[in-house]
Parts: sequence; C-alpha cells; structure tokens
Amino acid sequence: MPRLAKNPMESRLSPIRETFKAVKEDLSIANLCLGDPYVAPPDVVCEAFKKAIDDGRTHYENDAGAPRLRELIAERESAARGVAFHPYNHLVVTNGGTNGIYSISRAVLDPGDEVLLPEPIWIPFIEITRLLNCTPVFVPTQHEGNYLPSIEDLEARVTPKTKMVVVVSPGNPTGAVYDREKIDEIQKFCLRHGLWLLHDEAYKDIVFGDRQQHSLVGYAPNVIGVRTLSKSHAMTGFRVGWVISSNEDLIDRVRLNVAYNVMCASTPGQVAAVAALEKAADYLDEIVDEYGKRMRYAAERLQDIGFDLHMPTGSFYLFPRHNHPDDIAPRLLEEARVAVVDGRRFGPSGVGHFRISCSVDMPVLEAGLDRISQWWKGEVAVGRVTPASRP
Ligand SMILES: Cc1ncc(COP(=O)(O)O)c(C=O)c1O
Repeated sequence: MPRLAKNPMESRLSPIRETFKAVKEDLSIANLCLGDPYVAPPDVVCEAFKKAIDDGRTHYENDAGAPRLRELIAERESAARGVAFHPYNHLVVTNGGTNGIYSISRAVLDPGDEVLLPEPIWIPFIEITRLLNCTPVFVPTQHEGNYLPSIEDLEARVTPKTKMVVVVSPGNPTGAVYDREKIDEIQKFCLRHGLWLLHDEAYKDIVFGDRQQHSLVGYAPNVIGVRTLSKSHAMTGFRVGWVISSNEDLIDRVRLNVAYNVMCASTPGQVAAVAALEKAADYLDEIVDEYGKRMRYAAERLQDIGFDLHMPTGSFYLFPRHNHPDDIAPRLLEEARVAVVDGRRFGPSGVGHFRISCSVDMPVLEAGLDRISQWWKGEVAVGRVTPASRP
C-alpha cells in the first residue's frame, strides 16, 4: 500500500462537527454547539443567487473574485477603515474565511515554522498549522485577563522559527474583543520580531454596546485580515469571504493559493455577496441586535448558575468557566440532553470551560440553559463541585 502523507495524521476533523452530526437529527437535544447563524440569509441575497443562475452566471469567475464584488469590497473597506484599498491589488475573494486562512498560511509559512496562537482559539488555526507541517505554539489566556494574551507570554514563546501571530477578534470561542491598546502592543511585538499578524475578523460586525472592534488591517504591510459573509449575513453555505492587506506581494501569493486550490469562489455566491453588501445593511443591524439580546440573557443566566463569565462584547459565543474536574460536555449531552463544546478542544487554557453558541432560536436557548442549571444544581447537591472554589 502506498503511504499517506505524514502531516494530516496528527490532524483531526473538528469535534464540533462530530458532535453536530450526532445531535443534528435528535430533536430532544438542545443544540448549543454550532457556529452557524440560526436565521436565514436576507431575502435579497437569496433572490440574487437564484437570479444569477437564471442569468447564466454559472461559469468560472476570475480567480481573485468578480470585479464588481472586489470594487464594492474595496469601497466598503476603505470607508470603514479610513485607508484606501485597491480592488485588484489589496484583496482576494475566497471560498469563505477558512479558504482565506489556509491560503494565507500557505503563502507565509514554510514547513517547520511556528505560529503563535493565543488560545482558547478556533480549532482550524491549530489544524491548518499542523497540515502545513508547522507547529502551533499555544499562548495561554485566562478569564482574569479577559482572554487576551500578555506580551510577556508572547515574548516567552518566540524562537527563530516563529513566523506569524494569530488574533481572532471578536473571538471564537471566548467572545473577547481585543482593545486598541492590546492590538497595538501585539503589532509592536510583531515588528520587533519580524512576524506576520493574521487578524481573523469573521465576527467583525458582531460587537455589542459601545464596544469597538479595533484592527490594523490596511495600516501595516505585515498585517493581514480575513473576512467572511458567513456570520454577518448568515451566508455559511454560499462560501464567500476575502483576504485583505496593504501588502501587494502577499495578496499575489494568496491569490495563487486560491487559484490552485479552489480556482475561484462560487460565481452565483459572489453575485449574492454583492447583494449582501449593497442591499442588506438593515439586516446586519437587526441580527446584531438579536445576538446581543441572546448573549445578555444567556450570560446573566450562566452567571446566576455560578459560572465565571464576562458580559459578552462580541461574536455569538459564551465561554463559561466551571470548576468541575472533568470534561462536562459529554455528561451534559448524555444526562441533560444539551449539546455544548468542551473548552479543552480549543487549546489547553480551555480546560474547565465549555462553549455555548447563542446563535439559536430563543426557546432552544432557554431550554438548554434550564437543563444546564438543573444538571449543575444536581452536581452541587451530590458534592461533586464546590461552586466557590476555582479550578
Ligand atoms: C473565528 C472564525 N474564523 C473563520 C471562520 C470561517 O468561516 P467561513 O469559512 O464559513 O467563512 C469561522 C467559522 O466558524 C470562525 O469561527
């Protein structure tokens, strides 16, 4: 038998997807484990997609993205960030954010390189790094530090092989939003050591209250942004995102990787993306409002139950800390019929936490929290946990 390549053997499919497969069909389970918006995309988006097919937009697109879409993205990004992006030199349309992350990683990493990952972090960053025969280097973050990495912890892990730092803000799974000061400190750290800074902005638009998402994308040539319409416009199945940077050489490389990996993003998907950017601004306001309501409701309930939790600032995930000695996700599924993701899946600092997604219908969220509450009280009653103690 010929042998498989060595690299993927360490990689595993995301456990979130495995859990999802198991619970999808079972309506008796309150499913709080998914990162897929619970709402439908805006009507104008679906209509544009259908019309694109009727109009014969069913062929290959330009590998860097449809010109109209790139122009629109450049216009919107330039206005939002206060810096001029060229539609052809500074961005590439990708097959969702994941394809963007993979293409950036291929563009900047050589086998053996190390990537600094402040964790808990979205699992694909760990696995993509491994797939490219590179090493994910975990940088711990804690509840007490708002799940933001300290510069001392980053400094302590730099080696001559370090090539890139990843920032996911707003964060998945923690919901943390990096403030201006932290982003600036990390950029200074990157410049001191000659590192790339990949800023995953999948949840850029999903921030609450007066919280601002701060980013240096466009302001320095070592900074690369990843965007997607998956979360902001509930377009996970359309597969449209983009990579954006002021670094033209980097963008050329990303383009090569997109071209020789997926050829181009979906053509009707890109027509739908134009409709999303042009015609669905209200939708975004509404959806962020809805997420905000669910997040506040769930956060208060989880705090009442006794978990350590910050009031949410961004994304649609909550990451409560518990003091249970074990991974409680399988027991919550078995005994309480509620699906959550165990925190340790997102890196070692996730031990003693679980992630819930608030991107679900309100009755599902209520039922899930009722069940978690009852189950937790039972655990306290039999003395398995001491709510006042810390892990
Ligand atoms: C942090 C983060 N980045 C990127 C993505 C990529 O999403 P997509 O490939 O659907 O654009 C996700 C999806 O869950 C995410 O949570």
